[in-house]
Amino acid sequence: MSNYDIKNVKLAEGGRHRIEWAEQEMPVLRLIRARFAQEQPLKGLRVSACLHVTTETANLMHTLQLGGADVVLCASNPLSTQDDVAASLVANFEIPVYAIKGEDNNTYYEHIKAALDHHPHLTMDDGADLVSTIHKSRTELIKEIIGGTEETTTGVIRLKAMAKDGALKFPVLAVNDATTKHFFDNRYGTGQSTVDGIVRATNILLAGKTFVVAGYGWCGRGLANRARGMGANVVVTEVEPLPALEAVMDGFRVMPMVEAARIGDIFCTVTGNKQVLDKGHFEVMKDGAIVANSGHFNVEINIEALETLSGGDKRRVREFVETYVMADGRKINLLGEGRLINLAAAEGHPASVMDMSFANQALGAEYMAKNAKSLTAQVYSIPVDIDREIARLKLAAMGVTIDSFTDEQFKYMNSWEEGT
Ligand code: ADE
Repeated sequence: MSNYDIKNVKLAEGGRHRIEWAEQEMPVLRLIRARFAQEQPLKGLRVSACLHVTTETANLMHTLQLGGADVVLCASNPLSTQDDVAASLVANFEIPVYAIKGEDNNTYYEHIKAALDHHPHLTMDDGADLVSTIHKSRTELIKEIIGGTEETTTGVIRLKAMAKDGALKFPVLAVNDATTKHFFDNRYGTGQSTVDGIVRATNILLAGKTFVVAGYGWCGRGLANRARGMGANVVVTEVEPLPALEAVMDGFRVMPMVEAARIGDIFCTVTGNKQVLDKGHFEVMKDGAIVANSGHFNVEINIEALETLSGGDKRRVREFVETYVMADGRKINLLGEGRLINLAAAEGHPASVMDMSFANQALGAEYMAKNAKSLTAQVYSIPVDIDREIARLKLAAMGVTIDSFTDEQFKYMNSWEEGT
């Protein structure tokens, strides 16, 4: 493979305009970029990144590059690449990219391998496919790697499982665990972009529909609230009592999926688990039901069961809609091949939240460059000082000022003597 593999380099101009458009909404990353350009904290560091190839990611890649890093990028999902952005990164920023929207699984892994041929010192993952490929089949690279960063909940869960098994061989920083990441990106980002993806794929009206959200983690909370905001009747399904209780108290109906399956018009999984929508659910769904996933991997909807129940009778009725016809004539519509619909049919989270997520990535990379030597092969949280600084910068960029403690209040908050 040559030093990039993208759809068409001629798409670069459109990509560059869209990258600049996103940049306007990324003030925190812009500040970090200006400092990085001066201080060069990543000088000499080879970085292999496996992220969704979007306008926001392009801004992160440029920031790392200006910080002195030698960066390459591959896709973290076969359907999430924005081909014009990939072209612009290659043509305008001289960053090698291996990513084509709609690539098959084989090409997806060929692209990961190509990004690893860069011999990274630092890995940057969204879903841990880079780290897991290194540990499964490219172990010779480990000696050069100082550490990695991980963007998403699913990736952090995988990495923690590796660390628990003693399988993880270098330290990884869990960007997802920063409050300025999951509290905003997972909730407001996933909430808005998932609704956006479903609407762009189908052009259906959400008002008055029964919208079933599977999973009430940060993404589920965001999605349920945004769907309600569009006038849908939202039902939540959960396996954990605490978030289920929270969903009830947030005013949602909560019930097992097998009951929700009978009444839902639209279903969206955001659990991180597999076969959340399964054969037994498809068997009782209404004619015309729409099923989508916004979790990281395409395992949440049992697509094989849909194939079996329909005897392979399926047709593509719109760009991101596959209609399966059941033996009894009912139609079930699968969106975006069960891949994360917010990136497959829309453009992922808006730049304003990615600003904070990718500020964490950039500062996380700097932290690793400085501190990785003193870390062991574990999953680490982003230092709380970085998290607070990002929140401070974001507020400042939004023109929001806040109070500070008076001396007396500070003393009170740090004492125990004063009571009733
Ligand atoms: N994950 C979700 N939305 C994203 C975006 N816009 N860019 C990169 N990664 C994302």
